[in-house]
Amino acid sequence: MKTTSQSAHQTYIKQHQDRFLGELFDLLRIPSVSADPKFAPDVRRAAEYIRQRLLEAGADSATIHETNGHPIVYGERIQDPALPTVLVYGHYDVQPADPYELWDSPPFEPVVRQTKEHPEGAIFARGACDDKGQAYMHVKAFETMMQSGTLPCNVKFMIEGEEEVGSDNLEIFVQNNKDLLAADVILISDTGIISNTTPSITVGLRGMSYVEVEVVGPNRDLHSGRYGGAVANPINVLCNMIARLHDEKGRITIPGFYDKVTNLSLDDRKAMHEVPHNDDEFAADLGVDGLQGEEGYTTIERVGIRPTLDVNGIWGGYIGEGAKTVLPSKAYAKISMRLVPDQNSDEVTDMFAKHFLSLAPKGVKVAVRPHHGGEPAVIPTDSLEYRAASAAFEECWGKAPVPTRDGGSIPIVSLFQRELGLDSVLLGFGLDSDNIHSPNEKYGVFNYLKGIETIASFYQHYAGMKK
Ligand code: BES
Ligand code: MN
Ligand code: MN
Repeated sequence: MKTTSQSAHQTYIKQHQDRFLGELFDLLRIPSVSADPKFAPDVRRAAEYIRQRLLEAGADSATIHETNGHPIVYGERIQDPALPTVLVYGHYDVQPADPYELWDSPPFEPVVRQTKEHPEGAIFARGACDDKGQAYMHVKAFETMMQSGTLPCNVKFMIEGEEEVGSDNLEIFVQNNKDLLAADVILISDTGIISNTTPSITVGLRGMSYVEVEVVGPNRDLHSGRYGGAVANPINVLCNMIARLHDEKGRITIPGFYDKVTNLSLDDRKAMHEVPHNDDEFAADLGVDGLQGEEGYTTIERVGIRPTLDVNGIWGGYIGEGAKTVLPSKAYAKISMRLVPDQNSDEVTDMFAKHFLSLAPKGVKVAVRPHHGGEPAVIPTDSLEYRAASAAFEECWGKAPVPTRDGGSIPIVSLFQRELGLDSVLLGFGLDSDNIHSPNEKYGVFNYLKGIETIASFYQHYAGMKK
């Protein structure tokens, strides 16, 4: 049965959907790439854009908070201090769009095209799903409730510009603004659902330790004929060191790495497999003829509850056109480790550094530089806010959501648990096929509009249950 608030929301969203999409397109046109300093003015423009739209949507105030990096947008609507408060978190920064040539349309010129998963159209642009499209749903859900007279509680928005580079300055902002951020629950749309016919709620995220390594050999690039075979080649050495980070069972060889990993009970492991998944289809979608990973675990477990180590990039030597014979002086790699409860990112980074240095043969110097870290998070499913989110899915999607553990990381979730004592609701609506961090990122028009409706419904259920 439809509640009156849901009908009002649906009507409002339908009436204004073209504008809702148009405003998101304007945001997507701003190349707010946080990793690359050359985009810093654009990052700021995106922050200002969100601030303005928050004010228009009905915020009492919305301000830009400077940090040592990119700014944080904070806005709020306090209706009555006695009412519960929802703190919305999202990020307006995006991943670099490279490699540009693999995009079918320019990454910062959003267009709608039909796809298999999105018959009603998908918005193609960097950030469409991660996280501009999803963060902006909250601004529009807020407007929808303001205009329908259905906002049942207070709401605070904290939308940052450094999520994709580790949220270092957000941590300081949260620590210094605990009163400003005081709330009853945190609401985040920066994850995905299983599919548009099987909604789900993320209840686990992995943590992260990210390092860059450098291997330096001879004091200059050398002729690989005159010197090759007699001098350690930093790229050969680096590849060998990296290869030794896994054993033949797919386990990570860093001493102590698994010491703090909690092993789930067989029942809990079984429960994870209630989600629809098929290894063959999973592999076929990726164009690979087989899957691999830690022995003794399924794909769902490998990406959900097991820690991993991956090289994200590796470089050195000659990579231009044709062939140049050279024995390079230096080699580099960027390595990430995904962590699970109760691993700690600082501890893991230390363990990695110690182990990696110990693998260095004579003839090279090795350096390990930590980038950023984040802690894993597990979200309880027996909380009032989880039940409210579940009810919102039932109301808007006609189905109860499946709890899932996601392989990605949102370090801020554990930070909120630690600093504010608050759990988050991960009400995300992206699909695996949305290509986040990849060329041709997209977000379904259906997901965007349905997401707005579901968020508004969450507020109604949450406030109702809180009474
Ligand atoms: N939104 C993602 C995280 C995510 C994606 C979680 C899909 C679950 C499902 C977020 O923007 C992200 O990319 N996080 C980074 C970590 C960060 C420390 C750079 C990640 O997971 O690589
Ligand atoms: Mn994100
Ligand atoms: Mn991301």
